Amino acid sequence: MKLLASIAAGALALALAAAAQAQMVIKFSHVVADNTPKGQAAIKFKELAEKKLPGKVTVQVFPSSQLFGDAKELEALLLGDVQFIAPSLSKFDRYTKKLQVFDLPFLFDDVDAVDHFQSGANGKALLESMKGRGLLGLAYWHNGMKQLSTNKDKLQRPDDVKGLKFRIQQSDVLEAQFRQLGANPQKMAFAEVYQALQTGVVDGQENTWSNIYSQKFFEVQKTIAETNHGIVDYMVVTNAKWWDGLPADVKKGLSEAMAEATAYGNKIASDINESDRKRIAEAGKAKIQKLSKDDVTAWRKAMEPVWKKFEADIGRDLIDAALKSNK
Ligand code: LMR
Repeated sequence: MKLLASIAAGALALALAAAAQAQMVIKFSHVVADNTPKGQAAIKFKELAEKKLPGKVTVQVFPSSQLFGDAKELEALLLGDVQFIAPSLSKFDRYTKKLQVFDLPFLFDDVDAVDHFQSGANGKALLESMKGRGLLGLAYWHNGMKQLSTNKDKLQRPDDVKGLKFRIQQSDVLEAQFRQLGANPQKMAFAEVYQALQTGVVDGQENTWSNIYSQKFFEVQKTIAETNHGIVDYMVVTNAKWWDGLPADVKKGLSEAMAEATAYGNKIASDINESDRKRIAEAGKAKIQKLSKDDVTAWRKAMEPVWKKFEADIGRDLIDAALKSNK
């Protein structure tokens, strides 16, 4: 009896060990908080993937630069230390110049136009455009339109940012945009922005309502101007070699989970930004500066010369296709 029980226990232990071994652990790392469009979409992806592939995959989501920050996440993906990341489209400069199209100021009127462009042939081709560098794009995830904030009382016209220091993402287009305004841009990882604003290392930054809210930037800025001058949007990328080597059933399950999580996240993104805008207004810490049509035209005029500088790298055809996505 005793012998039988111990044989059974041994068999069970072996079976459990085998199951544990068969379970694939997949890491998804990103830099924003859970309560943001990207944070929510990543959690949804985990839930769906684990539901579709029970016992086969575990997805671990690491938000808020906990595992890898901006500086490391792309390298880590290529080294196989993480399987999914979703950097902002502004952070692929080193891998392709084509994605710079998304950073051109005042190119897209709104997120619908961005979505329209991404769903078309050009957007789909861009997902595959970094395969030669080992990166495969699986989806575009939306955040929202960018607003401009500073530690000054006045932020209405381009002249108001002259000489100010701005934190920017890792993007040459954004660097040119602020230089065009006579401001001093400084490339900096997302995780460092709050402290840089708080201590006055920089005077301002540009971001979506959801990032301004979840990172508490509104607590250390005086004015946020509703410029809607650009977008923060993401590409979910994976390691192309790893992806190609996946068993067919796992690849199928993950692809479906990705498609569904994308639809979910992209549907809730604008609501999150809208409610975060309200929360910021209610908090009463930073003033939200509404802009007149004339004000917006002035910003547009001041920033648009940047387009010409990047036209050759991006390609006029891509810029025109993007423009056509506006209604
Ligand atoms: C930023 O660095 O400001 C954003 O790209 C962060 C993010 O992922 O939304």
